[in-house]
Amino acid sequence: MALQGRKSRELFQRALKVMPYGVNSNYRYFSDEDTLVFSHAEGPYVIDPDGNRFIDYRLGWGPVILGHGDSFVNSRVKEAIDHGQVFAATHACEISVAERIIDLCPGVEMVRLTNTGSEATMHSLRLARGYTGRDLILKFEGCYHGAHDHVLWSTANAKIDEVGSLNQPRAYKGSIGIPESLRELIVTCPWNNREVLADQLKQYEGKIAAIIMEPMLGNGNALMPDPGYLEYVRALCDEYGIVLIFDEVKVGFRIAPGGAREYFGVHPDISCYAKAMANGYPIAAIAGKKELLMNFGPGKVFQGGTYSGNVLSTAAADATLERMQSGEVHRQINRVGTMLMEGLSEIFTRHSIVHHLHGTPAIFNISFSQDPPKDWRQLLENANFELYESVIMYLAENGVLREPFAIEPFYLSAAHRDEHIHLTLELFERGLKKVLEGSYLTKGILPVDVDF
Ligand SMILES: Cc1ncc(COP(=O)(O)O)c(C=O)c1O
Repeated sequence: MALQGRKSRELFQRALKVMPYGVNSNYRYFSDEDTLVFSHAEGPYVIDPDGNRFIDYRLGWGPVILGHGDSFVNSRVKEAIDHGQVFAATHACEISVAERIIDLCPGVEMVRLTNTGSEATMHSLRLARGYTGRDLILKFEGCYHGAHDHVLWSTANAKIDEVGSLNQPRAYKGSIGIPESLRELIVTCPWNNREVLADQLKQYEGKIAAIIMEPMLGNGNALMPDPGYLEYVRALCDEYGIVLIFDEVKVGFRIAPGGAREYFGVHPDISCYAKAMANGYPIAAIAGKKELLMNFGPGKVFQGGTYSGNVLSTAAADATLERMQSGEVHRQINRVGTMLMEGLSEIFTRHSIVHHLHGTPAIFNISFSQDPPKDWRQLLENANFELYESVIMYLAENGVLREPFAIEPFYLSAAHRDEHIHLTLELFERGLKKVLEGSYLTKGILPVDVDF
């Protein structure tokens, strides 16, 4: 099975000669025949060089919240770039973006802009370490917080037999090249497990600077926190003087206009935002309490970036956030997302397949095990994704694209319409029937470095 048409293949052969594995981010490589190549995108579609059009539920792994090439955002970007790109100085659009974030996200008092989610989490952790004078970081298994050395541990593609026992988790190093000595600075914990978290905090009392967490597992099948779990983590952070960081890079401005703070009603000390805040333009934000953020500054915690707050990205963010302030964007996403979630669930029920829905209409996924998984370990140990991944491949061959790697969620945008959802559901059921009766056989495709 090959996803590439003739022109895609030709382009990718060129790419293979000049870029490692032909990609600029490891996860984009599937195989020499299946790696996706696109020429352009519009609304809910991505289009390949052979002219094949796909309804897109990957949305660049989350950023495209309004739809590809949104004309409102692009017109503001076009207007802005005629007046220069970077000034190494403050400009009006940065201020407007910060004001909109403060308006949308409950409890946020100040904002520092960066360029990527990885930068936002990296600087947030330094801020927490500088503020508390402590060195250790606690993160949860299955959460991804970017590509830097301090957080690339026990992410969703860790080897389940190398993460220690549930009660004594061991951090799994996510890449060769990360210094072994950094292991001493990272404490890992299973998600949704109150006892192990309480034990870890007691064991490392006075040493942990920050707990960093995805408030829902955007990188682990969109698993949700158990009721009261985020409140529990918040209370423990207060008790132990630990800075609580919500990494909202995937869910910020997606699950609600005010992200996890609005959706769950729990306020961390810092939220890291990125993807959906500018509809695909590169920008990120560290947002939180003034008392904490004011520790960024001369002679205090270092934060810097040549392109931070650049004209193009801030114009895009300003326009995207302005659209969100009306509420209309999320009403549309929630409507079509709910249709898709419920429609898929009905299909599985009709075919007597035990399944569980996770997440919210804007970012959701399905798992297949008797009991709903509560954490990354249970997800990997009990869930059977083979059937699902085969149907995903059938969809891809028929013009509907979601991530082939099963635990990556579906993403919805405001450009998805009822007709896209109907077509997706029709094709999904057709594909499922074929896979169940054995007339469609494919192994599915996974990113090659799934084990690193
Ligand atoms: C939750 C989370 N945090 C951080 C990052 C890193 O963001 P970036 O790829 O912009 O560096 C990602 C990327 O997918 C993410 O999902």
